[in-house]
Amino acid sequence: MCAQNSLTEPAAHRQRQEATSAGLSRSNMELHDMKYAVSGDAGLYNYLLAHSYRPNEHLEGLHKDTLEGQPMARMCSPTVSIPLLQMLVKLTQAKSVVEVGVFTGYTTLGMALALPCDGIIHACDISSEFAAVGEPYWRAAGVREKINLLIGPATEVLGDMLADGGEGSIDMGFIDADKPGYDSYYELLLRLVRPGGLIVVDNVLWHGRVLEENPSTEDTKAIKAINDKIFKDDRVDICMLQVSDGVTLARKK
Ligand SMILES: C[S@@+](CC[C@H](N)C(=O)[O-])C[C@H]1O[C@@H](n2cnc3c(N)ncnc32)[C@H](O)[C@@H]1O
Repeated sequence: MCAQNSLTEPAAHRQRQEATSAGLSRSNMELHDMKYAVSGDAGLYNYLLAHSYRPNEHLEGLHKDTLEGQPMARMCSPTVSIPLLQMLVKLTQAKSVVEVGVFTGYTTLGMALALPCDGIIHACDISSEFAAVGEPYWRAAGVREKINLLIGPATEVLGDMLADGGEGSIDMGFIDADKPGYDSYYELLLRLVRPGGLIVVDNVLWHGRVLEENPSTEDTKAIKAINDKIFKDDRVDICMLQVSDGVTLARKK
């Protein structure tokens, strides 16, 4: 039996709802998530999660470990990204996914749970240190065999996949790594993804900094440049979502 999402209600989720309705102090997880509530309305954000995120004890365990134990915890996606990515995996009927930027493997786990038993996620990160946090959760969730962890700079890893004949072999790519690398990852994924496949780009609103006319950081410049480029790119259909820190969906024609 391979592991996919199930409908359970782990304690963490129940506690989140009870604490919120009782007006008690918020957990790290909730505070982290709230930074991504575009409307800024805690009640509405919790309502949205309660009606779209189906609890999973492994996802919640890894999220909690990451947010409480990692100095770079801000790199971890919010809960709301999980149902979105899982839905995209299912809508594309993906059997092969490439993730660029794993960190502790929270989104890796979310997508792996949505993949069919014979599906695979090629998960690339420049560091192996962070993924070691997620690996026990991947195993406990029963999806370790669906995850091909590839350690190295993403341009090299994706380049190797192309050199190995991977052109057009991937159903969905998710870009969530260093911002100056986004353009290269997008171009490489456009070659790896099949026609009709999807490239998902995270952080495209960059916490509002995309509105800076003269951005002072390389990260902001890179995000603005990739947004401008994808918008004008005839090779894809595009949709930008105001979810999390902004997510672009680029469907390869
Ligand atoms: C925002 S985090 C990924 C978060 C993860 N997707 C999640 O939501 O849980 C970005 C990751 O990109 C990795 N990274 C940075 N530069 C990279 C590169 N050149 N190649 C591959 N990974 C890189 C970092 O090590 C970091 O773990």
